[in-house]
Amino acid sequence: MTKRQRLIMIFLLIMSYLLVAVLILYKDFFLFQNQPLSTTDLKLHCATSKSPLQIDAKLIPHEKVLRNMSMFALVQLYFRYIESPQVTCSSVKRKGNVQDGGWQLCEDLEYAPDKNGCLVYSYGINNDFSFDDDMAKYGCEVHSFDPTMDNKTDFLRGERVYFHPRGVGGIDKQANDLVGSKDLQMLQIDTIATHRRMFKHGPKNRRLDVVKMDVEGYEFEALMTALHDGSLDDVRQLVFETHLTLNGRPLTKESYLKFLILLRKIHSKGFRIYTTLLNEACGFFNEVDQRDHFLCHEVHTVNVNIL
Ligand SMILES: *[C@@H]1O[C@H](CO)[C@@H](O)[C@H](O)[C@H]1NC(C)=O
Ligand SMILES: *[C@@H]1O[C@H](CO)[C@@H](O)[C@H](O)[C@H]1NC(C)=O
Repeated sequence: MTKRQRLIMIFLLIMSYLLVAVLILYKDFFLFQNQPLSTTDLKLHCATSKSPLQIDAKLIPHEKVLRNMSMFALVQLYFRYIESPQVTCSSVKRKGNVQDGGWQLCEDLEYAPDKNGCLVYSYGINNDFSFDDDMAKYGCEVHSFDPTMDNKTDFLRGERVYFHPRGVGGIDKQANDLVGSKDLQMLQIDTIATHRRMFKHGPKNRRLDVVKMDVEGYEFEALMTALHDGSLDDVRQLVFETHLTLNGRPLTKESYLKFLILLRKIHSKGFRIYTTLLNEACGFFNEVDQRDHFLCHEVHTVNVNIL
């Protein structure tokens, strides 16, 4: 090899090393086209869907205007509204059973409950503690309420899961079992405010992070009262199941009005729907708009007012 050939060899060697180095350093750039949306993209998407414009387009009019609307218009508004996400949550985790009994939790930084000392009220257990157990595993203190179970005393279900044989409603009262079980039993029903006072979770000394509610029709009065008296003001995530009607009672204009008024109030308190899950068991054919719909919706919201 001549000296000149050797120099060319060394030059080529150095050039190929440089080429490899450039490829390694900028591999992200070359591979970018094949990658799914990065977290920054999702965050951007999240910010866009939180813009007032999008939310305003989904607002429910005032009760006076609603009362003037036709049944057809109410039906259309109700299903469109309740089934449309208003904000994006990037990290959604299932807590509890995959099927009935489990609920989603939004674990995005701005909405996630604090893993040290968060507090959860879980209304409607029906012997399924899967959500409650998972929230305790996540790090929360969980209070599980259900007046219709066989257990009629307070007990510790597991580490950090406290059971109370009480229900939730619009006022403190003793009520007949609405669910229509075997023997007519008197159930203790209280407001969320009463529970917070009872367990010293007052708004001033303890934040209530998550409220889950699946209470077969009581959700309307329970939530209306709680939204009105401020006991949900510090809540980060509110998840609940709506029941347009129960026990095969006919759907009236009032059924839709009630829940549209509730949804409007929920929105005005800062709660935004990020996902709504449909319970197949609630499917029905709606004569009003001649379409298949659902009588119940599992609505999942995050509170944009307490960022
Ligand atoms: C209700 O409907 C009537 C007749 O269509 C109309 O005159 C009235 O202005 C409406 N009221 C409201 C509050 O929209
Ligand atoms: C709750 O009730 C069930 C069914 O009656 C019973 O098996 C269970 O031991 C009870 N748990 C407690 C802690 O009382």
